[in-house]
Amino acid sequence: MIETTPRHRLYIQVCEHVKPGVQSCGAVGAPLREQLKARVAALGLAKEIRVMKSGCFGVCEEGPNVFLFPHGVWFHHVGVQDLEDILQRARSLAGV
Ligand code: FES
Repeated sequence: MIETTPRHRLYIQVCEHVKPGVQSCGAVGAPLREQLKARVAALGLAKEIRVMKSGCFGVCEEGPNVFLFPHGVWFHHVGVQDLEDILQRARSLAGV
């Protein structure tokens, strides 16, 4: 085992888990992640901020859910209208 530190300053984790028959993030989470990833790339921040999909966080009823790691900031009920605010918060936390 090798203990190390994260390669990126911040990770935007977007839940894409699908729970058939009950509320879950998946159907909305995937396009949200794609849009966030495209914005991060367009801003030239891909080496500092990594956008990634996540499995279920266990708070499905609050979804779609986005989590900023390692800063511990949650966003619930996320829609496309929130992506720029999330990105601004991420940039502030990451210092970029
Ligand atoms: S499906 Fe997203 S938190 Fe459970």
